[in-house]
Amino acid sequence: MKRFALLLTCTTLIAFNMLAQNNLTFNVSAAKTTISRQIYGHFAEHLGHCIYGGFYVGEGNTKIPNSNGVRTDIVDALKKLKIANLRWPGGCFADTYHWKDGIGPKDKRPSMVNTWWGGVTEDNSFGTHDFLNMCELIGTQPYLAGNVGSGTVQELIDWVQYVNFDGKSPMSDLRRQNGREKPWNVTYWGVGNEAWGCGGNMTPEYYADVYRKYATFMTGWSNETKIFRIASGANSKDYNWTEVLMKKIPHNMLGGLALHHYSVIEWNKKGPAVDFTEQQYFQTMKSALFMDSLVIKHSAIMDKYDPQKRVALVVDEWGGWYDVEAGTNPGFLYQQNTMRDAMIAGATLNIFHNHCDRVRMANLAQTVNVLQAVILTKEEKMILTPTYHVMEMYNVHQDAKLIPLKIKSNDYKLGNEKLPALSASASLDSNGAMHISLVNIDPKATQDLAINLEGGNYKTVSGRILTSAKLQDHNTFEEPAKIKPAAFQGATLKGKSLNVKMPPFSVVVLELK
Ligand code: AHR
Repeated sequence: MKRFALLLTCTTLIAFNMLAQNNLTFNVSAAKTTISRQIYGHFAEHLGHCIYGGFYVGEGNTKIPNSNGVRTDIVDALKKLKIANLRWPGGCFADTYHWKDGIGPKDKRPSMVNTWWGGVTEDNSFGTHDFLNMCELIGTQPYLAGNVGSGTVQELIDWVQYVNFDGKSPMSDLRRQNGREKPWNVTYWGVGNEAWGCGGNMTPEYYADVYRKYATFMTGWSNETKIFRIASGANSKDYNWTEVLMKKIPHNMLGGLALHHYSVIEWNKKGPAVDFTEQQYFQTMKSALFMDSLVIKHSAIMDKYDPQKRVALVVDEWGGWYDVEAGTNPGFLYQQNTMRDAMIAGATLNIFHNHCDRVRMANLAQTVNVLQAVILTKEEKMILTPTYHVMEMYNVHQDAKLIPLKIKSNDYKLGNEKLPALSASASLDSNGAMHISLVNIDPKATQDLAINLEGGNYKTVSGRILTSAKLQDHNTFEEPAKIKPAAFQGATLKGKSLNVKMPPFSVVVLELK
């Protein structure tokens, strides 16, 4: 009897200890704020093989199925991913791009040198019509980044008129002459890019004035389209940039304020994309999780000037950045994509969801063949990366209501440093189903997580998992489906308590009904 009592106490203690280590509590009744689908945006720059040799293989291509030169397999994959918007043509390239060079007969288009990315000659064969028609094919909203650095106000407002004006005007007539009768009605417009750096090395005070001037002359040019202007925002933790812009730009001319942050170890010591050490993995994850602190601090500054949260925080460049793959052009930023990238994607999207009151748009850099790509191509072959799979698993959260949660996690420790092993976010969709997305970044330890579902009434749980044998694993053209989502069996629902066994470096999305 004594032994039984001792056993019972031990079991209770162990159970309590587990609970005390990893646990998650929700406030289902507080699910009010929408997770904007625009958080699921992507970025396509004229850089390396993102556009040329990526999205666009040319109209005359008979080897790779395409529609007006745009790869059909990429269009289909991005449709399935439900990408909400696509940012184009840069990046740094945007502030050197003159859109009028990319319209009209292709053989008459002038060329230019892509000074930022590899010094290659750009023949402008992929231009405004090609991009906007491609967005229609994918079923995504275009986000055009205007040239402020080396362009003019007139050039940018002409672009707005060209793509958005239905009536008769010099620019809409030119559009019709080039074969497009109806406007595309583009909502999202970036007013320059990285104005603090490649966009002109401006001070925030100077850029705020420049922004005000550009924004004054940009209008919707159509009754249907109210344009949403996005100011070039801070480089990572440059909080002063946000402070000055929020103070100096009237909020009625500011739809969103951007923020760029890459998960990078050190800019001059980025490390390999595949054969990284655990130390490098840890440092990458530390940089990725820093996004939480960035969002909190930039939002707090925005709250000071805009307590009603009218201006969105638009994280229009994020993702992992490593050394380029050996033998590739260093200016093309081509890198493989491993389970480490899946960890970055899952944890970052959880951060965006949990701050969706302010973060209402984001763009992963970049869609195809550049940085943390969701798609890699090699001639006629195409593969989906682990990042693609995470974004596909997570898209159930698009436009769902965020369920605020509290998570208590074990630490993932390396040397003297530690990070929370688990991250989570949850939402309620329009049919009443709850989705919980979980990430365990610990590369060695399984994490048992106890979830208290008090306040909800759920009878079934199902889920999908993304993991692999090694953290460095990745899909290749020879083995394209090495990493793909699988049915998850590690969740047990008993009444109001849900227990989840998260394997090392895994991403899980659960559905409760
Ligand atoms: O995404 C690559 C580059 O990173 C972009 O062109 C620029 O905006 C950023 O510095």
